[in-house]
Amino acid sequence: MTVREILKMGDPRLLRVAEPVREFGTAELDALIADMFDTMHAANGAGLAAPQIGVNLQLVIYGFKDNQRYPEAPPVPETVLINPVLTPLSEEMDEQFEGCLSVPGLRGVVARYTQLHYEGVDQHGEPIVRDAEGFHARVVQHEVDHLLGILYPMRITDFSRFGYTSVMFPELDPDDDE
Ligand code: NI
Repeated sequence: MTVREILKMGDPRLLRVAEPVREFGTAELDALIADMFDTMHAANGAGLAAPQIGVNLQLVIYGFKDNQRYPEAPPVPETVLINPVLTPLSEEMDEQFEGCLSVPGLRGVVARYTQLHYEGVDQHGEPIVRDAEGFHARVVQHEVDHLLGILYPMRITDFSRFGYTSVMFPELDPDDDE
């Protein structure tokens, strides 16, 4: 088990556009994905993108049955998504608080497409084709933003709804946001 360091906002490696994954089924890719799951689970995260551990590849993971950081969220299937392409299914957007393991201790309201079609491949190069909505769609948009060098505070339009988790959501375990 290898928990990797999660880069924090301000690190220029979080601002790069990630490169496509070109080789599948390799020991390196398997080891990277295993480390990402270890790292995400250790931090109670809902998702993690490879650039957050300093690996500049188009690779994200996400999913949980229930999540301490987002106790109201419905389950999201555990997924390895590589070289993703997102297509909103409508113009409708939904505003909700979100956080990020690279922006510890803070939450902010971000508008995301409510209904999303997404495609990519898994760690074996097998296609993933899904429609998602609500929190699932939000998580995918948040994680894929990391592959474009975008952190959620860069999407905030109303900074009156951006602040410390411990102040706005004191019921949440503060350890989950450090
Ligand atoms: Ni994030």
